[in-house]
Parts: sequence; C-alpha cells; structure tokens
Amino acid sequence: MKNFTRRQFLGVSAGLAAAATVAMPGRISAQNVNDRVNMAVIGCGVRGGQDMNGFERTCQNIDFIGFADPDLGRAKNTGRKHPNAAFVTDFRKLLEDDNLNAVVVTTPDHWHCLAAILAMQAGKDVYVEKPLAHTPWEGRQVVNAARKYDKICQMGAQQFSDAIQPQIKDFVHKDKALGEMKSVAVNHYSIRQPIGKRETPLPIPAGIDYDMWLGPAQDLPLYRNNFHYDWHWMWNTGTGEMGNWGVHVLGDAVNNTLNTMVYPKSIMGGGARLFYNDAGETPNLHFVYFETANVPIVLGLSTVPSAPGAKNAGKYVGASSGYVIYCEGGQLRGQRGSAVAVDNDGKVIRSFKGTSGDGTHQKNFMDAVRAHDRSILNLEIEKAYYFATWCNLANIAFLAGKPNMKEIVGAYNVTLGETMLSPQMVIDPETGRFVGDGMDFANSLLKREYRKGFEVPDLS
Ligand SMILES: NC(=O)c1ccc[n+]([C@@H]2O[C@H](COP(=O)([O-])OP(=O)(O)OC[C@H]3O[C@@H](n4cnc5c(N)ncnc54)[C@H](O)[C@@H]3O)[C@@H](O)[C@H]2O)c1
Repeated sequence: MKNFTRRQFLGVSAGLAAAATVAMPGRISAQNVNDRVNMAVIGCGVRGGQDMNGFERTCQNIDFIGFADPDLGRAKNTGRKHPNAAFVTDFRKLLEDDNLNAVVVTTPDHWHCLAAILAMQAGKDVYVEKPLAHTPWEGRQVVNAARKYDKICQMGAQQFSDAIQPQIKDFVHKDKALGEMKSVAVNHYSIRQPIGKRETPLPIPAGIDYDMWLGPAQDLPLYRNNFHYDWHWMWNTGTGEMGNWGVHVLGDAVNNTLNTMVYPKSIMGGGARLFYNDAGETPNLHFVYFETANVPIVLGLSTVPSAPGAKNAGKYVGASSGYVIYCEGGQLRGQRGSAVAVDNDGKVIRSFKGTSGDGTHQKNFMDAVRAHDRSILNLEIEKAYYFATWCNLANIAFLAGKPNMKEIVGAYNVTLGETMLSPQMVIDPETGRFVGDGMDFANSLLKREYRKGFEVPDLS
C-alpha cells in the first residue's frame, strides 16, 4: 500500500481554470403548510433517485422541478417522470429560480458542503447526503450557513428517523435495563472488489462537464476503471468506507451511547489497503479507538474477504454492519432497522424492530421545511456535523499514521501490507483540533485545499 502523503490527500496539483462566480443572493423561503414545495436533485446517481423516491412516497404537495448532474444523461434519467423539469449540468442555474424551495444534495462527497452552502445562500433549504463533509472544517461551514441564512438543513443518515432509536436510548440509559455501559464495538464487514489499476489515465467519458464534476477537488489523473461511484475510494473526492458505511454505523453507536454533540476526547487509528493492487487509496481495513467521556468505542471496518479467495467477510460479534454496546448485564446489538438485547447468558431479553428510516427521514425534513422549524429535525445539521466529524477524524488518524511493526513482521517473512497506526491523538473539546506536540500534520488535514473558483467560504 502506498504511504499517503498530505499532498496526495489534498491533491494540490494545479486546478482547472476558475469557474464562474459562485456567490448567490440570500433569499428566504419560509413555507406555508399548504404551499407546494418545489425541489431539485443535485447529483443524479444512485442515491439521488432513491432520495427523490423517499420524498415522493411520503410527502404531499411537493414537486421536483430541477435535476442537475454534470452527466446530463443521468439528470434526465433520474427526472424522467418529470419531463417539464429543468435539466442542467450546472446546479447553480437551478438555484437562480425563486420558485425552487429546497434541494437534495446527492453528489460525491467532495461537493456536499459547497453545494449545500451555495443552495442556502440562494435561500433554499437543504437535505444533504452523508457524510456531511470531506473535512471537519467545511462541515462546520455548513452549520454556520444554516444559522446565518436561517435555513433548514438535515443530513441524510436515514436511520436517525427510525422509531427504534429513542427506544434503544431509553432502554440503555433511562431504564438501564442492562446495567452500566462498559464499552462499545462498531462493525462494518463486507466485501468490495478492487477498482482496477490502469496504466494510462482514465479518459473522462464524453459529454460530462468535468469542471463541474471536479468542483472543489483537484484535477488529478484517474487510474481506476470506472468513472462513477468509485470516486469513493480516492482521497481527492471520497472519504472511503469510513465516510460511506462508517458514518451510518458509528453515528448510530455514538448516538445511542453518548446522546450529545461532542468530539471524541482522543482517537487512535490505523489500517491498510490490503491485498488489492488497485488504484484505490482509502483503507479497506480500518480500525479506530475513540476515547469518550464515558465508554471506549472501538470500530472495525473491513471490505476484504476474510482470507484470499474467501466468500465471507470475517467474524464479528453482532451484526456485520452494526454495533454492540457491552454492559454489565449483557449486550445491546444494533443494526439498521433492528436491535436485540441479550443477557450475559445470551438469552434475548428484548427485541427492537424498526425500518431503514428511508422515507421517514425525508418526510421529517419536509415537515421541518413547512414549519420552518429546525427543532423538528431528527438529524439537524449541527448534530450531523459532530457524527460525521468522528468519521473524518478516523480518516485523519489513518492518514496521520505511520507504518507499524513492519520490520518485525518482515523478519518473520510474512507480508502484512503496510499497516498504518496513529499515536493516540488528543482532541480539544471546543475546537475539534488535535492538541499536543507533533500534531501539525493531523491538524493540516482538518481542512483541504480547494480548486480555484470552488472554495468553500469561511462563514465563521
Ligand atoms: N444515505 C444513504 O443510505 C446513502 C446511500 C447511497 C449513497 N449515499 C450518498 O449519496 C452520495 C451519492 O452517492 P451515489 O451512490 O449516488 O454516487 P454516484 O456516483 O452514483 O452519483 C453521484 C452523482 O453526482 C454527480 N455529480 C458530480 N458532481 C456534481 C455536481 N457538481 N452537481 C451535480 N451532480 C454532480 C455525478 O455525476 C453522479 O451522477 C454520496 O455522498 C453517498 O455517500 C447515501
């Protein structure tokens, strides 16, 4: 595995020419309960369509009047049931429409924050997909924008609208049905395939407005095979499995354990991109220890087979994608849509049955838009910022890590890949910055360098 440098993470090669000015006049769009809410999808890949369906299935009196994607064919495909809508490659054109009230941001991760902020500056309410941000700093600017422009903003981690979440919290905290909490383990074990490793850069598919696709990211050659989706596994555009599934499972665990908006007290993490000789950069094995105010939280993500050629993703306690709260009197094993509590003999003492939260979460956003009341939101953007930041910090722990025990492992003639491990990094509870000696590099990763013309504004 490559030793990632700050330069690779930030992608500091020269950008393309500056884009058009991005500032929009602020407009307020408080909704009357009976008014129709006009919406647009910004980012028409897999999730854009799913979110639109979630809104249409659960909300009355809404209309999708715009679809934006630098790949216009994708915009037209997602909006095919809305032939009178506007279809554009540059979403900023949609934002000029005073009839547009709210947007769904379902772009790749590197665009989430700038798109959300531009939309709020233009007076729109925003449903922005997880992970909120590419870095903690830009996530904070989205919170600032929501406050400054008085906008409704929710992050799309839908299980926060699953009715079992408050039930689990009551069970663990109020009823203390399993006694005191001792520790928490978070899992995501699944298998992903390698993404290819081209000798020559991938030609950008014809018809894509690549300047808009890149936006805040740097213009780096792509050596993966597929243009769409696999941006997840490059630091320039994605946040790896940590920002993909990690944000869901860790968010659930933190929400049900701490129930408050905090940073971890300290973090230690590492991992590797093992076995796959591909163009991917993000780890496919990632482990993190979080020190919190009450219990330690340990997270393990793996997207490689349990052994070369194996069909399964390995062994874990609880769900393959979920969390286990270890308590004095047993365990609470949660996952998307369900949870089970077992005593120390393994006997089930309570089952929780919920839903994925899809549909409910979009409806929750719409209710808040109509009432213009952010207190209704199940994942208001400030709360979302903290959950998402835990994942960003976990990525920084990986990037700030150093090759670990390589010499010892090598002496036994075993290849372990290049496993990285960070020191235990203490976090300032107010600022979210790493404190102490030797933290300059980790702190430099709290914010990225933006391509000219696509800078996230400082709204502090
Ligand atoms: N909440 C969930 O369960 C869930 C599920 C899947 C994906 N997601 C999130 O949704 C986002 C999109 O994921 P996906 O699987 O749909 O990816 P995808 O690659 O299929 O689609 C992303 C789309 O965004 C477009 N895009 C790029 N730049 C854009 C811009 N400037 N303006 C408008 N569109 C732009 C791309 O061309 C592409 O069509 C990701 O951030 C992902 O983490 C959330």
